[in-house]
Amino acid sequence: MAREKCVLAYSGGMDSTISVVWIQEQYDLDIVTLTVDLGAGPEIEGVRERAASAGAIDSLVWDVRDEFVSDYVWRGLKAGAMYEGVYVLSTALGRPLMAKKLVEAARQVGATAVAHGCTGKGNDQVRFDSGIMTLAAHGDPLRIIAPAREWGMTRDEEKLYAQKAGLKLREVGDDQRVYSIDRNLWGLAIEGEDLEDTWFAPPEDAYSWTRPVTDTPDEATEVEISFEQGVPVALDGKKLGGVALIERLNDLAGMHGIGRVDHLENRLVGIKSREVYETPAAVVLHDALRALETACLARDQQRMRSYVGQQYADLVYDGRWFTGLREDLDAMIDSTMRYVTGDVRMRLFKGSATVTGRRSPYSLYDFGLATYSKDDEFDHAAAKGFIDIYSLPARIQHRNQTMHDAR
Ligand code: ARG
Repeated sequence: MAREKCVLAYSGGMDSTISVVWIQEQYDLDIVTLTVDLGAGPEIEGVRERAASAGAIDSLVWDVRDEFVSDYVWRGLKAGAMYEGVYVLSTALGRPLMAKKLVEAARQVGATAVAHGCTGKGNDQVRFDSGIMTLAAHGDPLRIIAPAREWGMTRDEEKLYAQKAGLKLREVGDDQRVYSIDRNLWGLAIEGEDLEDTWFAPPEDAYSWTRPVTDTPDEATEVEISFEQGVPVALDGKKLGGVALIERLNDLAGMHGIGRVDHLENRLVGIKSREVYETPAAVVLHDALRALETACLARDQQRMRSYVGQQYADLVYDGRWFTGLREDLDAMIDSTMRYVTGDVRMRLFKGSATVTGRRSPYSLYDFGLATYSKDDEFDHAAAKGFIDIYSLPARIQHRNQTMHDAR
């Protein structure tokens, strides 16, 4: 009888290549690897060969960049989802989609198990496991295997294991730092090694998408970003698909040293951990969209969008993507974005992106009301009566209560 199958989320790196061997050994399963391309990803080239050399019976490579951008990245952007005010959730937005693709692949090849490379300390195991369990809740049960959570090997033991299994891995010198890096189109996350000391400044060579400001152009770049209902659609008047637009902005903003974030963050599992991010395009787009909102949303809408954005960020970070609440929040945000259409001009220079202009056919900014020139249309006389009534409760409270405190 043929062995049962397991679909393994496969990046092509050392851990996931060892996992191919380890799962076959420990669980007596055939391995089909699935490499999900979320853009800017690592080592897509040669993954099939590497998977085969470790004994995988088949390997799938799925380019899901468009789906990632339209169904995950843009939703996070519209919601203003910035975890703890700084992290654009690049990794966190990618995980639910990967979980979805793992379940799809498992059903497609008739697997009884899926596997991912998360350890037992991070957020990603929560996002993967809950995503998989939720989406596989109907149909045949799918077992979840997480080798790195189960095998208890140190880095050196892993290397030894790889050697014994006859795996060819790119040799890394003992004195060389090996950060744990996760990257996709929306951003790059770097952790581990010397960054585990929270006082240690990230060394320049930890970064790969952004230049140090000492090495950025001495001329600013101005870029005009156009949005339709909260979704970026063009750069400098040129229509671009989401993937191309993000790639272009990553290059441009990265060249100006924009998008470096050094954050000590609260993980869902209760640990504080230091993570360094490079998210040039995401930072520029969040700032630009927020600027357009200042023109297109009423004050209360802005306040509520900001509150919902925080809830949305926690929900994404905590792996609650496949929930009714997330859909409810999306509906609310999409409604908020109905008139958030227009252009924002950003100046990219020496590590910062600065808004220098915003315009919209639906702008609530009214020149006649705002101007101090002779074109002023605002009824100054009406202000007096407004303030009389507006300040009434404060005046009465002061007269009947606070005034007496001074005695
Ligand atoms: N801290 C981020 C998150 O939880 C990124 C996790 C992966 N980071 C890494 N360097 N491998 O979403």
